[in-house]
Amino acid sequence: METRIVDAKLGMREAQELIKNGKLVVFPTETVYGLGASAYNEDAVKQIFIAKGRPQDNPLIVHISSLDQVNDLAIDIPDIFWELANKFMPGPITMILKKSPKIPYIVTAGGDTVGIRMPSNPYARELISGSTPIAAPSANKSKHVSPTTAQHVFDDLNGSIPLILDGGSCKVGIESTVLDLTSEVPTILRPGAITPEMLSPYIDAVYHTKQDIKITKSPGMKYTHYAPKVPTVMAYDINSAVIEYDNQVSNGRKPVLVIRDIYRDVTKDRDIVSLGVTVEDYTRNIYGALRNAENNYDYIIVERLQNKSGIERSVMNRVEKACGGKCVKF
Ligand code: TXA
Ligand code: MG
Repeated sequence: METRIVDAKLGMREAQELIKNGKLVVFPTETVYGLGASAYNEDAVKQIFIAKGRPQDNPLIVHISSLDQVNDLAIDIPDIFWELANKFMPGPITMILKKSPKIPYIVTAGGDTVGIRMPSNPYARELISGSTPIAAPSANKSKHVSPTTAQHVFDDLNGSIPLILDGGSCKVGIESTVLDLTSEVPTILRPGAITPEMLSPYIDAVYHTKQDIKITKSPGMKYTHYAPKVPTVMAYDINSAVIEYDNQVSNGRKPVLVIRDIYRDVTKDRDIVSLGVTVEDYTRNIYGALRNAENNYDYIIVERLQNKSGIERSVMNRVEKACGGKCVKF
């Protein structure tokens, strides 16, 4: 199959028709690119799992373009959903509700709950409003780093999908916050740009730790995620990063530092892939930087953000996974 990258504006009508006809379309969102199919079409959704190589026990998020669609997708919707939806949707949050019988079980991986998300990216919403609610995971090969540009998607899925809508670089850069509203206490299953601090005026959301959540609750959590193709470690601080870099050079490797520009004075002429300057830059750039690094180097050393709250905690969650938990400290 030929895979085309088309400007999101120019390709919109064709993409809406593809979705309505049970085909796959890759589309931009503010978090990462999604690989979408009609949420009501079992055969189409099956193709998503095949194209990604995704295990069938990992449920998909259903993307909407307006809040009226929720009544068709979920049942027993608690008041807190509407309160949070009015505040944070559209935006980088997914809320887990009880599933309506109208959604095929392939979408929810056999479970009775469904993740609902309304992207703020206008192309994503136009695609949905001109077709149907769209079930979509991130548009990477299973277990690889999530894509934040159309080219990233092409690099992973060329040949297995017909159309990638190109809407430029994703503004947030990491996947949405996943908030479970079906558990006894609202639980953050995946941290993201909507942080516990932002949610706290409305709910006391607890942040899951691996120990206190049953693995079946969010099957995605049991898989290795976001992993580059070459060994990747986090550095405890910038001095550790530099020592690790020099050690790896002595080992005959070609390492790279994935860090913000603020450390250039310390890192001197060592190779770096820049994450920009601010924490928001870091978040937006991290996945592209990891892809760039894995294509040009054989060992990746990533800057650790020290502050364990807000968006920093969310992006560190992804980096820890990319590094398989490895952190070097000298
Ligand atoms: O930002 C995002 O959420 C992106 C864009 C494309 O919208 N999507 C995304 O989808 O990251 P995916 O499939 O790569 O990750 C969805 C995560 C998985 O860890 C999955 O297990 C979890 O959300 N999830 C989905 N439905 C769930 C459900 N009903 N209950 C618990 N966890 C669920
Ligand atoms: Mg994913």
